[in-house]
Amino acid sequence: MDISQRSLGDLARDIPGATRVFHAHRLDFCCGGRHSLQEAALKRGLDPGAIASELAGLQAAPGAERDWRGAGNAALVEHLLARYHEVHRQQLPELIRLARRVEQVHGAKPDCPNGLADHLAAMQQELESHMQKEEQVLFPLLTQGRRQLQAPIAVLRFEHEQHGEALARLEQLAHDFVPPAGACNTWQALYRGLAQFREDLMQHIHLENNLLFEGLAEAGGAGSAAAPYQPEGKAQVAVAVTGEGAAVGRPATGCGCGGSGNGRGGCS
Ligand SMILES: [Fe+2]
Ligand SMILES: [Fe+2]
Repeated sequence: MDISQRSLGDLARDIPGATRVFHAHRLDFCCGGRHSLQEAALKRGLDPGAIASELAGLQAAPGAERDWRGAGNAALVEHLLARYHEVHRQQLPELIRLARRVEQVHGAKPDCPNGLADHLAAMQQELESHMQKEEQVLFPLLTQGRRQLQAPIAVLRFEHEQHGEALARLEQLAHDFVPPAGACNTWQALYRGLAQFREDLMQHIHLENNLLFEGLAEAGGAGSAAAPYQPEGKAQVAVAVTGEGAAVGRPATGCGCGGSGNGRGGCS
């Protein structure tokens, strides 16, 4: 099939390095992974043929990026936990701290991302709750070889879409992570960290949606892309699976600007 007619999720799964190309062109391959390359590129005013050529080049000369197809659920789950779950748990408290500092010091400036720290704190809570569902129920069942997991996977896919919406709001609040001229080091560090967080979260969701969950669907046992989300199932699964409402610490609201600031722009 012509590359441009294939879905972004398929391409991200099948061509190691494709996600880098999608990030560069701002194409959503995780939550928006069901759209074809042509459809997604045209929507952003891009040339699908040019992007297809970039991807074809990757296929001809594959890079060092690991191909997770065929790695097995246990290895993929181990990677998801170490590379994404633990990393998000380190990233978010620091990003919240930096955002609070920038808002406190620069709140009166027109480009200041006011509301960003609260938005990040809400994302942290949502993500923590979501990751606990995966860690406490779904991943153990998967690695034990259980296959009838349609209900929890439908819920997790739905939550991934919510994460995607939260990322879009994050980009909007933080002006697409482009700091204004003369931004202090804290502000620059914040936006660099946000860009990395966005990339990590999209890759995280891609590996779950397009490899882990899709692999189960192909094996005939789990909710595929076509599985409808059942709102009434969410609470049922959440309670059964996670004991939703488990204590999830909100980050401290106080901040001291550490590390990256050099005093310019009022940050220490
Ligand atoms: Fe996850
Ligand atoms: Fe997830």
